[in-house]
Amino acid sequence: MKTPNHTLSALQCPVTLADVDLFSPGAQEHWYEAYPILHREAPVQRIAGEGLLPGSDGYILTRYADIARVVRDPVRFPATLSLAVDAILRSGLPPDQVPDTNAMVAAMATLRPTDELWRAHRKELTDPWVGPGATRHAPMIARTADRLIDGWIDRGRVEFIGEFARPLPQRVMASVLGFPESDIPRLAEWGAAQVTAFVHGRGHRNQLTREQLQEQFRVLAGFREYVHEIVQEKRRNPADDMISWLTGVTYQALGRPLTDMEINGIVYAMIIGGLETTQYALEEQAQLLCEQPGLFASIRGDRTAIRAFIEEAMRLRAPTQGLSTRITSQDEDFQGISVPKGSLLHLRFAAGNVDPQEFECPYEFQLDRKAVTRHLTFSAGPRVCPGAGISRVEQTIAWERLFERLGNIAYAPGNTFLHQPGIMLGTLELHLEFQRAR
Ligand code: HEM
Repeated sequence: MKTPNHTLSALQCPVTLADVDLFSPGAQEHWYEAYPILHREAPVQRIAGEGLLPGSDGYILTRYADIARVVRDPVRFPATLSLAVDAILRSGLPPDQVPDTNAMVAAMATLRPTDELWRAHRKELTDPWVGPGATRHAPMIARTADRLIDGWIDRGRVEFIGEFARPLPQRVMASVLGFPESDIPRLAEWGAAQVTAFVHGRGHRNQLTREQLQEQFRVLAGFREYVHEIVQEKRRNPADDMISWLTGVTYQALGRPLTDMEINGIVYAMIIGGLETTQYALEEQAQLLCEQPGLFASIRGDRTAIRAFIEEAMRLRAPTQGLSTRITSQDEDFQGISVPKGSLLHLRFAAGNVDPQEFECPYEFQLDRKAVTRHLTFSAGPRVCPGAGISRVEQTIAWERLFERLGNIAYAPGNTFLHQPGIMLGTLELHLEFQRAR
């Protein structure tokens, strides 16, 4: 197996396996040129010395079948978060006082330390709001999308991320959780602080320096206080929102109500998971509509195709390209490569989605692709993304409103198409021009 050539200039397109390093600065500009090389020559790529423990290695999995097998088997491939939770429980400290532990992980220690409780947590606490129950937010999402479109529809031009794709999930999640709209700028700042590691972290483990970590915890101390105050207020005056509901619910799996710390952790998870992901799904979908001749007009003429459109777009341009979230609990074999017990697995969902062994003509956008939802963009198995429901509703309604109000879209001048650093696939800006629908 060859070692990546780190001297390749960040913006240069990889040609041979030696050029491929998915985590070097600027690598995101050419991820989709790297995936066929990995599939062909190194579908299981070792990253020497980059495991969780000293002396262990990381492995990048790019085959659909391998990733699907890993995420469906939590016993053989435990989640790294479970290790963090075990460490918290072993420390004997109150979870929110364990050093370097964020609110989400602290709440996992008490609410879902086992696979069974993980499932109960989803079913009882998040599904009603951001899972299957997310359809209840449809009217609010449509109103929010329309208000954003009102802001630029007369201009014929829009910076699509700043004026639509970013504020939409921010406003939607604020409304779902029960935060006042005036607090959205602060929530956006905290949201950005939460995802620091996924944007600025180094390597496949998204590692932050000690200084970056300290800064992150400093900023997020404000978030913790803010949520604490909101929770107190909702306990006194509950409204029709997720936080109010969490203050009153009995978590049947444990037969008790939730503590402030636990509600704080669930809110943290909703913010860290719910903003940039949907933002970049929308942004890449807009790009596909600009790039695929006739696609906009054909979906505009048949809106029932929106659902297939968002799924096929998420397959082809997964917002969360990959995460290093599982370890091997025993020696394994992937594609004939031995992967020892204790290795850290980087699951490259985006590469699995374009695996030619799983998808015919994988790099083609096909609106009529069979079983269009079988991509790995939300992962799969017991730990599948709990917010997939609301994200799908947001994307569907966003496009329903956009197809209703715009007659066409095209790239406007001024796009660099440069991507945000880190693990997400998304450009920093996207300038579009359009005509209003008649
Ligand atoms: C297009 C949008 C989204 C994508 C691509 C996405 C993708 C993912 C992926 C790949 C995982 C890892 C699952 C695993 O480890 O197997 C995940 C986990 C997670 N996602 Fe999403 N997600 C999206 C939207 C959302 C939304 C809208 C929310 C919240 C409302 C959310 C909340 C979470 C949380 C909290 C986790 C951690 C696991 C847990 O706490 O159960 N995600 N997501």
